[in-house]
Amino acid sequence: MKTHTLLMPLDMHLHLRDGVMLETVAPLSSYSFSGALVMPNLVPPVITLEAVVAYKHRINHAIGKLDDPDEEALMADDCFEPYMSLFYQNYTRAFLSTVKDEIVAIKLYPAGITTNSEGGVKSFDLDAMRPTLEAMSDLGIVLSVHGETDGFVMDREAEFMSIYEMLAVNFPKLKIVMEHITTKAAVEMLERYENLFATITAHHLLITLDDVAGGMLRPHLFCKPIAKRPEDREALLHVALEAHPKVMFGSDSAPHPQHKKEACGCAAGVFTAPIALQLLCELFDKHGKLENLQAFISDNAQNIYGLCPEFKEVVLSNRPFLVPEKYGDVIPMFAGEHIGWTIESVN
Ligand code: DOR
Ligand code: ZN
Repeated sequence: MKTHTLLMPLDMHLHLRDGVMLETVAPLSSYSFSGALVMPNLVPPVITLEAVVAYKHRINHAIGKLDDPDEEALMADDCFEPYMSLFYQNYTRAFLSTVKDEIVAIKLYPAGITTNSEGGVKSFDLDAMRPTLEAMSDLGIVLSVHGETDGFVMDREAEFMSIYEMLAVNFPKLKIVMEHITTKAAVEMLERYENLFATITAHHLLITLDDVAGGMLRPHLFCKPIAKRPEDREALLHVALEAHPKVMFGSDSAPHPQHKKEACGCAAGVFTAPIALQLLCELFDKHGKLENLQAFISDNAQNIYGLCPEFKEVVLSNRPFLVPEKYGDVIPMFAGEHIGWTIESVN
């Protein structure tokens, strides 16, 4: 049996939702990850300091990490850090100064492009956005971007590249993360602009559009951006397996209840949080690149975001793991199937 140890795994793009769903999914991430960048696309979106602080409190409660000293003693999983984000709007510098210590990023969604993004950006009017983006740049707040236009679904990410370029050129000191990249075009952008970085999901390293819609339609693999062509996946695999210093893992694990996935009008999102580390070990091992996984899963994100996560050690082995059919009301990727690697211990 082969084993592999990962230190302080970080998931730099995670949907934890709220209420019962939060209670179901948050402990699944806090078990094996040291921290995660938590997405703000709640209903309503997270746009105030009070909302950030209250959401972080609910997350900490859901993982048994009670952050109020008057509350009961700490339970398990107390070394998971929810790195918070705000939903992009044009904000004042004064507001950003007051919120900056509570967040690490602001997430920009084009309006209506994906789940709960109706309040996003309607037009990329640089003059209107400049004060916000300059203040973010000065204050060291990362701009995290869902980079898709409203064009033809397979071309949306590639069409967004000109917007990334405009942002990268106009705000050279602003760190911009191209979230969940799915195309060769996005990979190529990494070399062109010093201030562009990217997250890559596990599912986009494993599937193409053929897996989603090439045979019977598989709603649990449907997400935004949609999985693309084999050559796109190859480009993603190349930079992930080499642990290119500008790429990091972000699961985009996006849970929806079963009835919203298995419906006519399937919600976008693949739920991978509880199996992400196992899948990545299997994939990196298959390509003989296990030694690069530490950088992809944690070190690069620590450097890009300037994070210092608390110690956590996850030992995995190449013993097969039977993925549960369901976690609460959520069907995970590979439900009911064996995957190649198992988490043996977390310390
Ligand atoms: O597939 C997706 N699901 N893509 C997103 O950008 C949002 C996410 C969600 O929140 O469900
Ligand atoms: Zn997302």
